[in-house]
Amino acid sequence: MSIRKVVFPVAGLGTRFLPASKVIAKEMLPLVDKPLIQFAAEEAIEAGADTLVFVINRNKRQIADHFDAMFELETKLELQGKQVLLAAAREILPPHVNCVFVTQKEALGLGHAVLCARPVINDEPFGIILPDDFIYNTEIGALKQMAQHHAATGASVIAVENVPRERTRNYGIVSAADDHLQSCRIDALVEKPSPELAPSTLGVVGRYILDGSIFNELEQIGRGAGGEIQLTDAIARLLQKQRVDAFRFSGTRYDCGTKLGYVEATLRVALDDVHIKDEIRQRMRLLLD
Ligand code: G1P
Repeated sequence: MSIRKVVFPVAGLGTRFLPASKVIAKEMLPLVDKPLIQFAAEEAIEAGADTLVFVINRNKRQIADHFDAMFELETKLELQGKQVLLAAAREILPPHVNCVFVTQKEALGLGHAVLCARPVINDEPFGIILPDDFIYNTEIGALKQMAQHHAATGASVIAVENVPRERTRNYGIVSAADDHLQSCRIDALVEKPSPELAPSTLGVVGRYILDGSIFNELEQIGRGAGGEIQLTDAIARLLQKQRVDAFRFSGTRYDCGTKLGYVEATLRVALDDVHIKDEIRQRMRLLLD
Protein backbone atom coordinates (compact mmCIF):
# COMPACT_ATOMS: atom_id res chain seq x y z
CA MET A 1 0.00 0.00 0.00
CA SER A 2 3.00 2.34 0.23
CA ILE A 3 3.71 4.72 -2.62
CA ARG A 4 6.98 4.32 -4.48
CA LYS A 5 6.70 6.96 -7.17
CA VAL A 6 6.08 10.68 -6.94
CA VAL A 7 5.46 13.01 -9.88
CA PHE A 8 6.66 16.62 -9.94
CA PRO A 9 4.93 18.60 -12.71
CA VAL A 10 7.51 21.33 -13.27
CA ALA A 11 7.13 22.35 -16.92
CA GLY A 12 5.14 25.53 -16.18
CA LEU A 13 6.43 29.04 -16.77
CA GLY A 14 7.15 31.19 -13.73
CA THR A 15 5.82 34.47 -15.05
CA ARG A 16 5.16 35.86 -11.58
CA PHE A 17 8.87 35.75 -10.86
CA LEU A 18 10.18 37.54 -13.92
CA PRO A 19 12.92 38.56 -14.45
CA ALA A 20 14.35 35.99 -11.98
CA SER A 21 12.53 33.13 -13.75
CA LYS A 22 13.65 34.15 -17.23
CA VAL A 23 16.67 31.84 -17.04
CA ILE A 24 16.23 30.10 -13.68
CA ALA A 25 13.47 27.51 -13.31
CA LYS A 26 11.10 28.82 -10.62
CA GLU A 27 11.45 25.46 -8.82
CA MET A 28 15.18 26.17 -8.53
CA LEU A 29 14.58 29.34 -6.52
CA PRO A 30 15.98 28.69 -3.06
CA LEU A 31 14.55 29.11 0.40
CA VAL A 32 17.85 30.36 1.87
CA ASP A 33 20.22 27.73 0.40
CA LYS A 34 17.96 24.90 -0.75
CA PRO A 35 15.89 25.02 -3.95
CA LEU A 36 12.13 24.46 -3.74
CA ILE A 37 12.49 21.31 -5.85
CA GLN A 38 14.89 19.84 -3.31
CA PHE A 39 12.45 20.43 -0.45
CA ALA A 40 9.80 18.68 -2.57
CA ALA A 41 12.11 15.73 -3.36
CA GLU A 42 12.95 15.28 0.34
CA GLU A 43 9.27 15.29 1.26
CA ALA A 44 8.62 12.58 -1.36
CA ILE A 45 11.51 10.42 -0.14
CA GLU A 46 10.36 10.77 3.46
CA ALA A 47 6.94 9.49 2.31
CA GLY A 48 8.59 6.34 0.94
CA ALA A 49 9.31 7.23 -2.69
CA ASP A 50 12.30 5.72 -4.45
CA THR A 51 11.42 7.00 -7.93
CA LEU A 52 11.05 10.71 -8.56
CA VAL A 53 9.39 11.55 -11.87
CA PHE A 54 9.96 15.09 -13.10
CA VAL A 55 7.76 16.35 -15.92
CA ILE A 56 9.93 18.98 -17.55
CA ASN A 57 10.45 20.82 -20.83
CA ARG A 58 13.53 22.18 -22.56
CA ASN A 59 13.69 25.20 -20.25
CA LYS A 60 13.79 23.08 -17.10
CA ARG A 61 16.92 21.03 -17.70
CA GLN A 62 18.57 22.68 -14.71
CA ILE A 63 16.37 20.48 -12.56
CA ALA A 64 18.04 17.39 -14.04
CA ASP A 65 21.44 19.02 -13.52
CA HIS A 66 20.58 19.74 -9.90
CA PHE A 67 20.00 16.05 -9.16
CA ASP A 68 23.08 14.95 -11.12
CA ALA A 69 26.57 14.57 -9.63
CA MET A 70 28.91 17.52 -10.16
CA PHE A 71 32.23 15.85 -10.64
CA GLU A 72 34.48 18.94 -10.97
CA LEU A 73 33.09 20.64 -7.87
CA GLU A 74 33.19 17.45 -5.81
CA THR A 75 36.80 16.70 -6.80
CA LYS A 76 37.88 20.22 -5.90
CA LEU A 77 36.14 20.15 -2.51
CA GLU A 78 37.61 16.72 -1.81
CA LEU A 79 41.15 17.89 -2.61
CA GLN A 80 40.63 20.92 -0.35
CA GLY A 81 39.36 18.67 2.43
CA LYS A 82 36.08 20.63 2.66
CA GLN A 83 34.00 17.75 3.96
CA VAL A 84 30.89 19.68 5.01
CA LEU A 85 30.52 21.38 1.63
CA LEU A 86 31.33 18.10 -0.12
CA ALA A 87 28.50 16.40 1.75
CA ALA A 88 26.12 19.26 0.81
CA ALA A 89 27.01 18.82 -2.88
CA ARG A 90 26.83 15.03 -2.80
CA GLU A 91 23.93 14.24 -0.55
CA ILE A 92 21.30 15.69 -2.84
CA LEU A 93 19.59 12.28 -2.98
CA PRO A 94 20.10 9.02 -1.07
CA PRO A 95 21.62 6.18 -3.17
CA HIS A 96 18.40 4.14 -3.39
CA VAL A 97 16.50 6.97 -5.09
CA ASN A 98 16.27 7.30 -8.88
CA CYS A 99 15.16 10.26 -10.97
CA VAL A 100 13.22 9.91 -14.20
CA PHE A 101 12.65 12.86 -16.51
CA VAL A 102 9.80 12.98 -18.99
CA THR A 103 8.98 15.86 -21.27
CA GLN A 104 5.72 17.72 -21.64
CA LYS A 105 5.89 18.96 -25.19
CA GLU A 106 2.84 21.22 -25.04
CA ALA A 107 1.67 23.43 -22.16
CA LEU A 108 -1.78 21.86 -21.88
CA GLY A 109 -2.16 22.06 -18.11
CA LEU A 110 -1.57 20.13 -14.90
CA GLY A 111 -3.69 17.13 -15.92
CA HIS A 112 -1.77 16.83 -19.18
CA ALA A 113 1.55 17.06 -17.30
CA VAL A 114 0.52 14.20 -15.00
CA LEU A 115 -0.60 12.13 -18.00
CA CYS A 116 2.92 12.51 -19.47
CA ALA A 117 4.19 10.45 -16.48
CA ARG A 118 1.93 7.49 -17.26
CA PRO A 119 4.61 5.30 -18.93
CA VAL A 120 6.72 5.53 -15.74
CA ILE A 121 3.92 5.06 -13.22
CA ASN A 122 1.93 2.33 -15.03
CA ASP A 123 -1.14 1.65 -12.91
CA GLU A 124 0.09 1.79 -9.31
CA PRO A 125 -0.95 4.43 -6.74
CA PHE A 126 1.44 7.37 -6.84
CA GLY A 127 2.04 10.77 -5.30
CA ILE A 128 2.08 14.23 -6.86
CA ILE A 129 3.85 17.25 -5.36
CA LEU A 130 3.53 20.77 -6.74
CA PRO A 131 6.79 22.29 -5.48
CA ASP A 132 5.33 25.84 -5.45
CA ASP A 133 3.24 24.76 -2.49
CA PHE A 134 5.92 24.55 0.18
CA ILE A 135 4.63 22.88 3.36
CA TYR A 136 6.66 23.56 6.46
CA ASN A 137 6.65 20.93 9.15
CA THR A 138 8.59 20.35 12.31
CA GLU A 139 7.49 16.72 12.44
CA ILE A 140 6.16 14.42 9.70
CA GLY A 141 5.97 15.89 6.20
CA ALA A 142 2.58 16.39 4.53
CA LEU A 143 2.99 13.67 1.89
CA LYS A 144 4.00 11.10 4.50
CA GLN A 145 0.92 11.97 6.57
CA MET A 146 -1.14 11.37 3.43
CA ALA A 147 0.72 8.14 2.59
CA GLN A 148 -0.16 6.85 6.07
CA HIS A 149 -3.82 7.69 5.48
CA HIS A 150 -3.66 5.95 2.09
CA ALA A 151 -2.02 2.86 3.64
CA ALA A 152 -4.71 2.70 6.33
CA THR A 153 -7.73 3.24 4.03
CA GLY A 154 -6.71 2.40 0.44
CA ALA A 155 -8.35 5.68 -0.62
CA SER A 156 -6.87 8.26 -2.96
CA VAL A 157 -5.94 11.30 -0.86
CA ILE A 158 -5.94 15.02 -1.65
CA ALA A 159 -4.44 17.66 0.64
CA VAL A 160 -6.82 20.47 1.54
CA GLU A 161 -6.99 23.55 3.72
CA ASN A 162 -9.48 26.32 4.26
CA VAL A 163 -8.98 29.30 1.99
CA PRO A 164 -10.65 32.73 2.08
CA ARG A 165 -13.91 32.66 0.08
CA GLU A 166 -12.76 35.56 -2.09
CA ARG A 167 -9.85 33.40 -3.27
CA THR A 168 -11.71 30.25 -4.41
CA ARG A 169 -10.87 31.19 -8.01
CA ASN A 170 -7.27 30.12 -7.35
CA TYR A 171 -8.02 26.58 -6.17
CA GLY A 172 -9.73 23.31 -6.76
CA ILE A 173 -12.62 23.36 -4.26
CA VAL A 174 -13.94 20.28 -2.50
CA SER A 175 -17.49 19.41 -1.59
CA ALA A 176 -17.85 16.85 1.22
CA ALA A 177 -20.46 16.03 3.84
CA ASP A 178 -18.07 15.80 6.81
CA ASP A 179 -15.67 18.55 5.82
CA HIS A 180 -15.01 19.62 9.41
CA LEU A 181 -13.14 16.34 10.06
CA GLN A 182 -9.41 15.81 9.51
CA SER A 183 -10.26 13.54 6.60
CA CYS A 184 -13.51 12.91 4.75
CA ARG A 185 -14.72 11.35 1.55
CA ILE A 186 -15.12 13.89 -1.26
CA ASP A 187 -18.52 14.10 -2.99
CA ALA A 188 -17.57 16.57 -5.71
CA LEU A 189 -14.64 18.70 -6.80
CA VAL A 190 -14.61 21.81 -8.97
CA GLU A 191 -11.68 23.71 -10.45
CA LYS A 192 -11.35 27.41 -9.61
CA PRO A 193 -15.01 28.33 -9.04
CA SER A 194 -16.08 31.92 -8.42
CA PRO A 195 -16.76 32.71 -4.73
CA GLU A 196 -20.53 32.70 -5.38
CA LEU A 197 -20.45 29.23 -6.95
CA ALA A 198 -17.85 27.56 -4.70
CA PRO A 199 -19.44 24.60 -2.86
CA SER A 200 -17.22 25.25 0.20
CA THR A 201 -14.00 27.04 1.11
CA LEU A 202 -11.97 23.84 1.35
CA GLY A 203 -9.20 24.35 -1.21
CA VAL A 204 -6.91 21.76 -2.79
CA VAL A 205 -3.24 22.16 -1.93
CA GLY A 206 -0.47 20.75 -4.16
CA ARG A 207 -0.20 17.21 -2.71
CA TYR A 208 -2.08 14.20 -4.06
CA ILE A 209 -1.96 10.43 -3.74
CA LEU A 210 -3.94 8.96 -6.61
CA ASP A 211 -4.98 5.56 -7.82
CA GLY A 212 -3.38 4.60 -11.14
CA SER A 213 -6.78 4.56 -12.82
CA ILE A 214 -6.63 8.39 -12.83
CA PHE A 215 -4.78 8.05 -16.15
CA ASN A 216 -7.87 6.57 -17.83
CA GLU A 217 -9.87 9.55 -16.61
CA LEU A 218 -7.21 12.00 -17.76
CA GLU A 219 -7.31 10.46 -21.21
CA GLN A 220 -11.04 10.84 -21.47
CA ILE A 221 -11.61 14.38 -20.20
CA GLY A 222 -11.39 17.28 -22.59
CA ARG A 223 -10.07 20.74 -21.87
CA GLY A 224 -11.59 22.43 -18.85
CA ALA A 225 -11.02 25.74 -17.02
CA GLY A 226 -8.57 28.01 -18.83
CA GLY A 227 -8.65 25.71 -21.90
CA GLU A 228 -6.35 23.25 -20.11
CA ILE A 229 -6.59 19.56 -19.24
CA GLN A 230 -7.34 19.82 -15.53
CA LEU A 231 -6.26 17.23 -12.98
CA THR A 232 -9.23 18.35 -10.89
CA ASP A 233 -11.68 17.32 -13.64
CA ALA A 234 -10.14 13.83 -13.83
CA ILE A 235 -10.33 13.45 -10.03
CA ALA A 236 -13.97 14.59 -10.16
CA ARG A 237 -14.65 11.57 -12.41
CA LEU A 238 -12.51 9.20 -10.35
CA LEU A 239 -14.43 9.96 -7.17
CA GLN A 240 -17.65 8.80 -8.79
CA LYS A 241 -16.11 5.33 -9.07
CA GLN A 242 -13.95 5.01 -5.98
CA ARG A 243 -13.17 6.65 -2.67
CA VAL A 244 -11.15 9.87 -2.76
CA ASP A 245 -10.54 11.54 0.61
CA ALA A 246 -9.81 15.17 1.43
CA PHE A 247 -7.08 15.34 4.05
CA ARG A 248 -6.25 18.28 6.30
CA PHE A 249 -2.52 17.94 6.83
CA SER A 250 -0.65 19.37 9.78
CA GLY A 251 1.96 21.92 8.81
CA THR A 252 1.98 25.40 7.32
CA ARG A 253 1.62 25.88 3.60
CA TYR A 254 3.30 28.78 1.84
CA ASP A 255 2.32 29.57 -1.74
CA CYS A 256 5.77 30.06 -3.20
CA GLY A 257 4.19 30.82 -6.56
CA THR A 258 3.53 34.30 -5.14
CA LYS A 259 6.05 36.87 -3.92
CA LEU A 260 4.42 37.17 -0.53
CA GLY A 261 4.38 33.42 0.11
CA TYR A 262 7.90 33.00 -1.18
CA VAL A 263 9.36 35.73 1.05
CA GLU A 264 7.45 34.44 4.08
CA ALA A 265 8.67 30.87 3.45
CA THR A 266 12.23 32.17 3.09
CA LEU A 267 12.00 33.87 6.49
CA ARG A 268 10.47 30.73 8.03
CA VAL A 269 13.38 28.60 6.80
CA ALA A 270 15.95 31.25 7.78
CA LEU A 271 14.62 31.24 11.35
CA ASP A 272 15.47 27.52 11.52
CA ASP A 273 18.98 27.83 10.07
CA VAL A 274 21.47 27.29 12.90
CA HIS A 275 24.03 29.59 11.31
CA ILE A 276 21.82 32.66 10.93
CA LYS A 277 18.72 32.23 13.07
CA ASP A 278 19.74 34.44 15.97
CA GLU A 279 21.11 37.23 13.88
CA ILE A 280 18.23 37.19 11.39
CA ARG A 281 15.79 37.87 14.24
CA GLN A 282 17.79 40.91 15.33
CA ARG A 283 18.14 42.19 11.79
CA MET A 284 14.47 41.75 11.03
CA ARG A 285 13.60 43.76 14.13
CA LEU A 286 16.00 46.50 13.02
CA LEU A 287 14.50 46.53 9.52
CA LEU A 288 10.99 46.82 10.91
CA ASP A 289 12.03 49.69 13.19
C1 G1P B 1 -3.37 23.74 -9.22
C2 G1P B 1 -4.66 22.93 -9.26
C3 G1P B 1 -5.64 23.45 -8.21
C4 G1P B 1 -4.98 23.46 -6.84
C5 G1P B 1 -3.65 24.25 -6.89
C6 G1P B 1 -2.90 24.13 -5.57
O1 G1P B 1 -3.65 25.05 -9.68
O2 G1P B 1 -5.21 22.99 -10.56
O3 G1P B 1 -6.78 22.64 -8.17
O4 G1P B 1 -5.85 24.00 -5.87
O5 G1P B 1 -2.79 23.77 -7.93
O6 G1P B 1 -1.74 24.92 -5.58
P1 G1P B 1 -2.47 26.08 -10.11
O7 G1P B 1 -1.96 26.69 -8.84
O8 G1P B 1 -1.44 25.28 -10.83
O9 G1P B 1 -3.14 27.10 -10.98
